[in-house]
This record gives sequence, C-alpha cells and structure tokens, in this order.
Amino acid sequence: MRIAFIGGGHMSTSLVGGLLARGLAPDDIAVADPVPAQLERLGDRFGVRTSPDNLQAVRDADLVVLAVKPQDMAVAARAIAGEIAARRPIVVSIAAGIRLANLGAWLGPDVPLVRTMPNRPALIGAGITGACAGALVGPAERVAVESVLTAVGPLVWLEDEALLDVVTALSGSGPAYFFLLIEALEDAGVSLGLPRATARQLAVHTALGAGRMAAEGDVPPATLREQVTSKGGTTAAALAVLEQADLRGLLLAAVTAAARRSVELADQFGGQSGSQSGGK
Ligand SMILES: NC(=O)c1ccc[n+]([C@@H]2O[C@H](COP(=O)([O-])OP(=O)(O)OC[C@H]3O[C@@H](n4cnc5c(N)ncnc54)[C@H](OP(=O)(O)O)[C@@H]3O)[C@@H](O)[C@H]2O)c1
Repeated sequence: MRIAFIGGGHMSTSLVGGLLARGLAPDDIAVADPVPAQLERLGDRFGVRTSPDNLQAVRDADLVVLAVKPQDMAVAARAIAGEIAARRPIVVSIAAGIRLANLGAWLGPDVPLVRTMPNRPALIGAGITGACAGALVGPAERVAVESVLTAVGPLVWLEDEALLDVVTALSGSGPAYFFLLIEALEDAGVSLGLPRATARQLAVHTALGAGRMAAEGDVPPATLREQVTSKGGTTAAALAVLEQADLRGLLLAAVTAAARRSVELADQFGGQSGSQSGGK
C-alpha cells in the first residue's frame, strides 16, 4: 500500500515513524508540505519521498492522510480533488472538527472517506484514535485505515459520526485532564511538605502506573480501584473526599462542555454540506 500524507507536521511525523518501525518501505510513503525545512527534516530522518506539491504526493497513493490544520483543510482538499476523484484512493482525515460531509463536498462524491480523531500522545506512539467511516468504505478499506492509524496506538470505530464529538471531548481533550490531575497532585504533595521535584516524580509515575494497569489486562478500572482501597485505609479516606465533592459529576460536566464546543467548532470549520455521512 502506498500512502501519501498531506501536511508534514507533528502528526504525520509520528505516523510515518510508526509505519516505518512496522516495516513499511520508505519509498511507499510520500509527504507533501509547503515548508521546505519540514520536507528536508522528514526526508533526512526517514528517507521517505517528499514534495512541496500535494498533487504529486497523491498521484500514486492508495491511501491519503489529510494531516493539515482544520482551518487549512478546505484549501488542501479542494486542491487535490481532481486527482482524488479520478483515482479514488481511501482518504483519511485526522483533523479535529472536519465532518465527512465537508470532506465529501470538497473532494467530490464516490471517494471512500474516513474521519478520525487521534490524540496528542500519538506523538510518542501512545495515542488512541476514534474513527468513523463514510458510506463508501468497505471492510478492506477499514483494515487499510487501521493498519496506518494503529501505528501510533489503538483505533476504535464509531458508527455514528456525531459520537466523534464525544471522542474529541474524552480522548482528544483528555490528556489535558490528566495533566491537570498530575499538576494538582504535585501541588498537594508540595503543600504537605514534599520537595516539588519529588512530588512531580511521584505524581507522574503514579499516573503512568495506573494508566498501564488499566490498559494492560482485562480488569475494569472500578475493580482496580476497589483492589487498592482497603476499608478504613488511606485511599478510602481520599476517595471519600473526591466522591463527596462529586468528582464524577464534575468530569461529566467538563466532557459535556468539550463535546458541545467540538460541535460548535465543526460548524465553524465546515459551513458546507456534502454527499457522505457516517453510518447513522
Ligand atoms: N497534534 C496533535 O496533538 C493532534 C491531535 C489530534 C488531531 N490532530 C490533527 O492533526 C492535524 C495535523 O496536526 P499537527 O499537529 O500535525 O499540525 P502541524 O504540525 O501544524 O502540521 C500541519 C502541516 O501542514 C502544513 N500545511 C498547511 N497547509 C497545507 C496544504 N495546503 N498542503 C499541505 N500541507 C499544508 C503546515 O504548514 P504551515 O506550518 O506552513 O501551515 C504544517 O507543516 C490537525 O488537523 C489536527 O487537528 C492533531
């Protein structure tokens, strides 16, 4: 499979690195970007084909990843629409808030489209991506998309495109919630007498360890929490404070606000209807 990346920034760099680590040949990857320094960096580091010309990059691609900022997407998509319509490769957008309908309107009908929402830890190969396929995407195309996006972490399919706003609110914005939690734990440790560097190290590695325990194995987080909470113990004392302050309600409100904002931003970026939509 030949893959073209439109936009050679942070996310493309991570995906390219992940794909090469999996054994994809550098010659099967093309990256287009208007910034010469960006292309030189990618060429030197990975040996992939690079070009300032988007059309040249997509010309022999079986799968095209649109990896420009949301505000640049309409221009980038329209500029390659002719080539895409003629050859109909799978087109995957990783841009936040760009709907399948907009991509369809910009690229033309009959193009298999997939909208995805990766997250920031993809930059270190520890991301998670939500994806929604347009009507023209079959099982083989889904497998192809998975083979690319899972280079930086797992991928989950959503049949209802509207749920990508919830994905954006949960895992897209989610790393910031955990950073805040780490910050707050660090500050709490400092308030209670720990040196800042020590408090940070303790907070960061606790987050890492808890995340790994939740991710590895099949034990639900609620069970993991119960397993570390002895009756009348220290953890129980802390959790009682958090439950009393309605941490769960607070997080629901936060994620709801982010999902609402995601809809507003998609309305702003799109502003056009198109020909494909998600499964529901
Ligand atoms: N980074 C994240 O954490 C993250 C997480 C989830 C999703 N995403 C999504 O991933 C996409 C890429 O993000 P990123 O962080 O990789 O952005 P980035 O580092 O800014 O990379 C985008 C690149 O695309 C180039 N570009 C702009 N217009 C172009 C065009 N018409 N044709 C070809 N290239 C063009 C930009 O050049 P200029 O600098 O000259 O504009 C830039 O080099 C965004 O849509 C974002 O929503 C990012």
